[in-house]
Amino acid sequence: MSKIFVDACFGKETPYTPVWMMRQAGRYLKEYMEVRKQAGNFLNLCHNPKLAAEVTLQPVDIVGVDAAILFSDILVVPNEMGMKLDFLSGEGPVFEKPIKNQADLDALLGGEEAANKLTYVYDTIKILREALDKRGDEKALIGFTGAPWTLATYMIEGEGTKTYNICKKMMYSNPELLHSILKKVTEVVKLYMQKQIEAGVDVVQIFDSWAAAIEPSKYDEFSWKYMVEIAEYLKAKYPHIPVIMFPKSIPAFIPQVYGNFDVFGVDWSTPMAYAKEHLGDRYVLQGNMEPCRLYSKEATSFCVESLQKTMGGKRHIFNLGHGILPDVPVENAIHFVKECHRVSKK
Ligand code: CP3
Repeated sequence: MSKIFVDACFGKETPYTPVWMMRQAGRYLKEYMEVRKQAGNFLNLCHNPKLAAEVTLQPVDIVGVDAAILFSDILVVPNEMGMKLDFLSGEGPVFEKPIKNQADLDALLGGEEAANKLTYVYDTIKILREALDKRGDEKALIGFTGAPWTLATYMIEGEGTKTYNICKKMMYSNPELLHSILKKVTEVVKLYMQKQIEAGVDVVQIFDSWAAAIEPSKYDEFSWKYMVEIAEYLKAKYPHIPVIMFPKSIPAFIPQVYGNFDVFGVDWSTPMAYAKEHLGDRYVLQGNMEPCRLYSKEATSFCVESLQKTMGGKRHIFNLGHGILPDVPVENAIHFVKECHRVSKK
C-alpha cells in the first residue's frame, strides 16, 4: 500500500500534507516516562526492542502523526564501534574515552563489524514493521542516523559542547585525522542505514544537528559531502526509499546544496520561503515550525497557516524546525498535528 508520507517524500499529490515531529517519542509523554522507568534507563530502553518499539508507536497513537520514527539514539553507532557511552541525567551523553589520535581511531570497530553489532535496532524495526503492517493504516516508519560530522563532534569532544573547540582544533590543525574519523564513521553508517532498510523502514533521515558549528566555506568538505555519499549509496541500491537530509541552521550553504536525495529538512532559523526559492524545485521541503511555538496554541496555528500559505500544500511535509522539548503539553502537540491536517486537507 502506498503511504501518504512516502508519497509526499516523492512530491506526489496526497489528500493532505503529512506531519511528524523530530524527537516525537520522548519525555513530554507520560507514557514514555513510564516505559523508560520500566527499562531502568535510556540506553537500556534503546537496547530493548520490545520496549523501544512500544515507545516508537506512542506518538502515532497519542498525537496522531503520520509517521513513526524508530526509537533509538544517534550515539548507539559510536557506542557499538567500541566507545563506552553513558547518559548522565541532566548532563546528556558522555563518552568515557574520546578520540585523541589515530591509534584511538584504529582501536574502534569499523564497517560490517560495527554495523552487525546494532542488532537490537534491526530487531526493533522488525517488530515495528510487523505491527504497522498489521494495523493496515497509512503510517510510515522512519529510520535514522546522525551525520558523520555530528557523530564525530561527540566522539572527539566526549560530550555535548558549546564551542566545539576540540574538534575545530583538529579541523584546522590536523584535518587528516578528522577526515579519517569521518570516513570510518561514513562506512559504518552506510551499512547501518542499509540494514535498517533491509529490516523494514520506509524512509531514512540523516540528522546533522551540529552543522552550524562549521563555517559555510568548510561545510561541504567536513560534513555535506559525507552525507551525500551516504545518501547516494542508499539511492543507488534502494531508489524507492526516500532519503531526508536535515542539516540544522546552515542558511548560507543552502544555495550550494547538491546531491541525490529526496527531502530537505528545513530548521526553524531558515525562512521556508528562502529554502523554497533555492531548493523547492529539486527537493521536497520538510519543516519548519519553531518548536517553542508549541507552548502556545495560537502561536502554533499562526505558524501552520503561514507555512501552508508559503508551500501551498505542494512538495511539503510539516514538521518542527528541531526537536520537541520535554515540557510541551501533549494537547498542544495534538493541536499542531490537527492544524496541519486541517489547513492542508484537499
Ligand atoms: O522521537 C524521536 O525523534 C526518536 C528518537 C531519537 C532520540 N534521539 C531519543 C532520545 C532521535 C531521532 C534522537 C536523535 C539524536 N540524539 C540527535 C539528533 C536529533 C537532534 O535532536 O538534534 C542528537 C544530537 C542526539 C544525542 C542526544 N541524545 C543528546 C544530546 C541527548 C541528551 C539531551 C536530551 O535531549 O536529553 C540524548 C538523549 C535522548 N535521545 C533522549 C531521547 C528521548 C532523552 C533521554 C531520556 O529519556 O532521558
